[in-house]
Amino acid sequence: MSGRLASDYSSWKKLQQIYDSEHSNLVLKDLFAQDPARFSKFSREYVSPDGPPVTFLLDFSKNLITEPILGTLLDLAREAELETYRDKMFAGEHINTSEDRAVLHAALRNFDEWKIAEAGVDEVSGVLAHIKEFSEAVRSGAWKGYTGKPINTIVNIGIGGSDLGPVMVTEALKPYSKRDLNAHFVSNIDGTHLAETLLVCDPETTLFIIASKTFTTQETITNATSARDWFLSTAKDKAHVAKHFVALSTNTKAVTEFGISSENMFQFWDWVGGRYSLWSAIGLSIALVIGYDNFEELLKGAHGMDKHFRTAPLDQNLPVLLAVVGVWYNDFYGAQTHALLPYDQYLHKFADYFQQGDMESNGKSVTKGGQRVNYQTGPIIWGAAGTNGQHSFYQLVHQGTKIIPADFLAPATTHNPIAHSKHHRILLSNFFAQPEALAFGKTEEEVRKELGVNASEPLVKSKVFEGNRPSNSILFPLLTPATLGALIVLYEHKIFTQGVIWGINSFDQMGVELGKVLAKNILAQLEKPEDVKSHDSSTTGLIHYYQKHRKE
Ligand code: F6P
Repeated sequence: MSGRLASDYSSWKKLQQIYDSEHSNLVLKDLFAQDPARFSKFSREYVSPDGPPVTFLLDFSKNLITEPILGTLLDLAREAELETYRDKMFAGEHINTSEDRAVLHAALRNFDEWKIAEAGVDEVSGVLAHIKEFSEAVRSGAWKGYTGKPINTIVNIGIGGSDLGPVMVTEALKPYSKRDLNAHFVSNIDGTHLAETLLVCDPETTLFIIASKTFTTQETITNATSARDWFLSTAKDKAHVAKHFVALSTNTKAVTEFGISSENMFQFWDWVGGRYSLWSAIGLSIALVIGYDNFEELLKGAHGMDKHFRTAPLDQNLPVLLAVVGVWYNDFYGAQTHALLPYDQYLHKFADYFQQGDMESNGKSVTKGGQRVNYQTGPIIWGAAGTNGQHSFYQLVHQGTKIIPADFLAPATTHNPIAHSKHHRILLSNFFAQPEALAFGKTEEEVRKELGVNASEPLVKSKVFEGNRPSNSILFPLLTPATLGALIVLYEHKIFTQGVIWGINSFDQMGVELGKVLAKNILAQLEKPEDVKSHDSSTTGLIHYYQKHRKE
């Protein structure tokens, strides 16, 4: 980045020229017709460089790119010094400059392969051993509640990165789960979330996992305190908390003050960002649900993708390819959003997870050097699983006025081959059909032929699909823990790459602070109308209306 804006790079300027002069000629139908080798040129198979075998195919041929465009996009990554920043990240340099922190989530799944001189890195294996020992004790029934009964329910209380990763992964890897261990995740400060969860919990057999990097997050500490009150209203003796509450945090002092002893605390470090923390102690609920060995497979699959990102040449490097193609739409085509569309019910939380992963990382408008950017940064991430979206928002994706780049993901084999995999074949036929329809559309001529000469003009027009809508397709053999690990890291490093190109710090989240401060101020004013001070008339009016109508 070297103090410059991305738009100052010569490759950026070249991309702008290419866009201005060529974009109207970039028609997928023609690009495929002109080049029978297009699929092989613009697809790559990932084969894990080590660890458990993971393979998948990334087909990015249905994008509005040519070889020269891709070459220039990769030049942009080089000009932004991606390789240098990547190496700095893996070496533990403090690339999170605003917080003066290293960015070392990769060290959590490194299994000592390369040495990193950062405090805490040498403690990773000890925490993993603690997770193994504890999760095995709970799963086997050796860990008993205060009345001597084994644990049959876990409740993870956390928010943001201390919730979304464990939720997404435990849903994604349900086939590997211990079916008789109920897992709940409480995040929202809305008391309804906790209340509805506690309705199905028994204090004698429930384990609460308080997951908070800082252990100061208002939602988590309030929910944890109410859960402890609920527990003690039955258990009575505070000493019983030790059997039913554990903490995942970097803040030993706050954990101890809450009443959780240090042996029930699973530590991590400030160089693990919240949205990159599922690989750390925050993954305890994952290990409890799928078992430690599967958790380790997840980490190893993730590590394989780290190694690929560190070593593969840029034109073979899958996170880099996804990133630069994303930049092409985001910054030159003006695309505002990016859809994640997994054709796998188990991945139904994938888009939610990467909403935080991507939008909290790259939703920035000043560079690391403090300059206001003059281009678009992180896209809006959204999406839903399976064919459900086809019956709701795909209409707009196909025929609306917006360009919506999308990633389609699917497993070749299902964990649930019901009706001899008939369901899965139907699912996959949709997975193949949607990118095809988006790319190639349906011409007016084809519509006329189909409807016959008597069809009305408006009807003909309404049935035309312009096509030329870009997508990536990712096809993997089966959603295993290692495959999921690799897929998550594919996107983590895509986000990193884009952040480097845009020159922003992907690892702080200053944007969540202002609302927190204002809420704290308002909380102190909610009691009486005369306390409501120093707000605009809209906020004052809303608070007054609430005060008039509340019943407590
Ligand atoms: O939303 C802000 C944030 O700091 C996230 O980055 C983080 O994942 C979440 O809050 C929860 O923070 P903590 O784990 O410290 O409770």
